[in-house]
Amino acid sequence: LSKTRNLSNVLKDRLPEKYFSILEEVGMLSDELRMNAYIVGGFVRDLLMRNKNFDVDIVVEGDATVVARTYAGRKGAKVSVHDKFKTAVVILNGDRIDFATARTEYYDFPAAAPEVESSSIKNDLYRRDFSINSLAVQINNKDFGKLIDFFGGQKDIKDKKIRVLHNLSFVDDPSRVFRAIRFAVRFGFEIGPHTKKLIKHSVNLNLIERIAGVRLFQELKYILSEDNYIDALKLLDEYDLFKYYSAKEVYNSGKLENLENLEKIYSWYTFQFSEVCDEIYKSRFCVLFSNLTFKEVVNLGERFNFSGKMRDDLIKGLLKTKNVVLKITKTKEVTPAKVYRLLNPLSNEYIFSVGALLSQKDDYLIKDYFTKYRNTKLLISGNDLKKLGYKPSKLFGVVLEKLLDLKLDGYITNKEDELNWAKKLFREHGADG
Ligand code: CTP
Repeated sequence: LSKTRNLSNVLKDRLPEKYFSILEEVGMLSDELRMNAYIVGGFVRDLLMRNKNFDVDIVVEGDATVVARTYAGRKGAKVSVHDKFKTAVVILNGDRIDFATARTEYYDFPAAAPEVESSSIKNDLYRRDFSINSLAVQINNKDFGKLIDFFGGQKDIKDKKIRVLHNLSFVDDPSRVFRAIRFAVRFGFEIGPHTKKLIKHSVNLNLIERIAGVRLFQELKYILSEDNYIDALKLLDEYDLFKYYSAKEVYNSGKLENLENLEKIYSWYTFQFSEVCDEIYKSRFCVLFSNLTFKEVVNLGERFNFSGKMRDDLIKGLLKTKNVVLKITKTKEVTPAKVYRLLNPLSNEYIFSVGALLSQKDDYLIKDYFTKYRNTKLLISGNDLKKLGYKPSKLFGVVLEKLLDLKLDGYITNKEDELNWAKKLFREHGADG
């Protein structure tokens, strides 16, 4: 460690007061307990990059569970401890603070000997994925703010590079291939040439196949949640990674057009309603896999080891989306009522996907659905039907549904129309008022 940089002013300037205090307090407590404590990982990376990230990850040389328990005790905060891994989570006024004990391949060193301690945090950081994630900042009072950069993290942030720390990084954890792509597109960084080569080796050696299905899905979900996910898809294609998701080609220029459509519709929606969608990845997922057959979609769910809940949401969502697109495309006369009945059962994410998969001239269907159809309500209700002398039955539902369709399609404009049509519909069903 040639030049040591102190970040206490940076911490003071860039962190909200409450996080700064947490770091100071945990640091002083660690002094008391004669242990070293550091903030690590994405928190430090994002601090240097001026990105918002308040996922506080603390690594302790010694025993993090002791620090966490004591800290929680003094603050009256909740703590849950994982004794086997010597990790803990403290929930303080709704904020989550993660504590982990520095891990080395050998054994836990006693906290008192400084030379050994620093090798302990060094080992912990060496086990991490990329240099930009291998930075730490000490929080003990005496060294508060001391930046620990063993592996050139600062330089790589400056050079905009994603770089692994050693050749076996992807062997240790092949899912890092997807993380490399995710961080590259999120920050607009390049994957370093050697790291690129290692990714290619991992693909050639089929290391990716070892990733559990749940994880494989998780990584895709994270990628699809990034603003620049389209760039990430290009990289997934370049590295031939789509084959781990589907034997059939899913990524090509047509798909790219669909995805661009999706983003247009989604930006229109967010602008129109000042509302973002937390799970927009679902729309992107649907569009990405929209050319798979029923059987292939079901296989995809199996590959991902989906729980029943996920199957009901994403897999069924994808199948329904495809079905609605097919119906709209095949229908000669697409009336507002038909559009309403097809789209209404879907949640917004899937409606966006439907829009993305229709030809662009049909965009207006989706827009009209959101601005007009979904807000169309009848002026009368079951009570009005009772007042007309009809006995409540299933027929009420049928009649009200039909009335709404007539209203959507413009046959009904006022309350009187609604009542007259109601009578007519009851008559058609042989019911007397
Ligand atoms: N990590 C790793 N290998 C992995 C996953 C995580 O080395 N396969 C390490 C990284 O050092 C990372 C830290 O664990 O910084 C925390 O992981 P995570 O919360 O996934 O990453 P963040 O860097 O915080 O990313 P994000 O901003 O997406 O939360």
